Amino acid sequence: MNIQIKESKNYVGKTVTIRGWLYNFRSSGKIAFFQLRDGSGYIQGIVLKNSFTEEKWADIDKLTLETSMIVTGEISKHPKQENVYELQVSDFEILQISEEYPIGKKEHGPAFLLDNRHLWLRSGRQASIQKVRDCLIRGIYEFFHQNGYFKFDSPILTPNACEGTTTLFEIDYFDLGKAYLSQSGQLYLEAAIFSLGRVFDFGPVFRAEKSKTRRHLTEFWMMDAEAAFVEHKENLEIQENMISFLVKKVLDECHDELVLLERDITKLETVKAPFYRIDHKDAVDKLRKLGSEITYESDLGAEDETLLAQDLDKPIFVEKYPAEIKAFYMRRDPENPKYALCADMIAPEGYGEVIGGSEREADYNVLLDRIKEHNLPLKEFQWYLDLRKYGSVPHSGFGLGLERLVGWICGTPHVRETIPFPRMITRITP
Ligand code: 4AD
Ligand code: MG
Repeated sequence: MNIQIKESKNYVGKTVTIRGWLYNFRSSGKIAFFQLRDGSGYIQGIVLKNSFTEEKWADIDKLTLETSMIVTGEISKHPKQENVYELQVSDFEILQISEEYPIGKKEHGPAFLLDNRHLWLRSGRQASIQKVRDCLIRGIYEFFHQNGYFKFDSPILTPNACEGTTTLFEIDYFDLGKAYLSQSGQLYLEAAIFSLGRVFDFGPVFRAEKSKTRRHLTEFWMMDAEAAFVEHKENLEIQENMISFLVKKVLDECHDELVLLERDITKLETVKAPFYRIDHKDAVDKLRKLGSEITYESDLGAEDETLLAQDLDKPIFVEKYPAEIKAFYMRRDPENPKYALCADMIAPEGYGEVIGGSEREADYNVLLDRIKEHNLPLKEFQWYLDLRKYGSVPHSGFGLGLERLVGWICGTPHVRETIPFPRMITRITP
């Protein structure tokens, strides 16, 4: 009977077949050990010489790392370790003897590993990161569906910019001129709330950003959420509830992966709503005292984000940035229109901004002025303005960068390890 390795505990004393790859092995004169993996888990197979013919035993000398094979045997409990199972091998079939595997036991530099990303993904660390990513994706759907949101798919090919015109990937679109790859589905979600009330999207977005930092990709996965009748304060509450839910889910379901990644779990256990809050101007005061040269008119740099949140036990919202440096669609603070009703959520331990969000400008004429001030093409934004003509309501939303979240949860400082095949300004292969 074929089983997945993770099911072993249900088959103690039974003979089963496992299909996978040899990630390590050793053999002495009378006994060999196969370290097998199949994607679901890892198991050691114990192979005794006296159970095999001379001819079959000789096959063991041909084995190499990453050889694919089908192995049959009885599942037994590990004599010493709790919750560890072994396979007493009674038969094995080699599917393909692997050529010499380029990723060995020795240390490789990041460029070599990224060139071999298609193989690197097999390593225990990389597989664990992808499993945590999968858990977070499931968690996002779960959280929103439990909270009355509908999944709504925003387009990727768009006629207009969402997050400013400087970082757009441009393509020729038949006879219709230029089109752009989406930077965020937000504007389309704003149309959707008038139909569905609360919505989220989740998909790849693109930024032709010339940033070469450990937090920037040119293609990454964004989850945008948007809700009618939600104002700035409630927008933050939704975000902290979502992140608390997601962190708990990973702690519950990905314990083994976090252990393999050597993640300090105590640093995640404290991530519970409510999170911290600070206004941008107070953050600037604090950062300048800590030695930063940030000004009241500027955005937080990566180092400022690290400085502000590195010692915290949960994320912090930086609220009310100067409207000047933020996107055209953000509503101004009625108490002081110099500021936008927005917030960035900064993760602790130096992982930086994971969420950006705001309340949206809901007044037709104010928004029209903003579009003009930002020199955006009115023709392409007319549909977006229309939303303020037919039953406009206060509304808010936010966008979560999946790779930044995975990086923080896994304790992986560079986002290039958190997406299966990273795209950066200097890398498009494999
Ligand atoms: O802060 P951003 O630019 O916000 C928006 O795009 C809004 N339209 C979202 C919304 O309100 N619906 O991007 C949101 C998040 C950031 O907080 C960050 O986590 C991630 O997307 N992000 C990136 N991740 C990797 N590489 C990049 N180049 C990123 N740019 C933004
Ligand atoms: Mg942002």
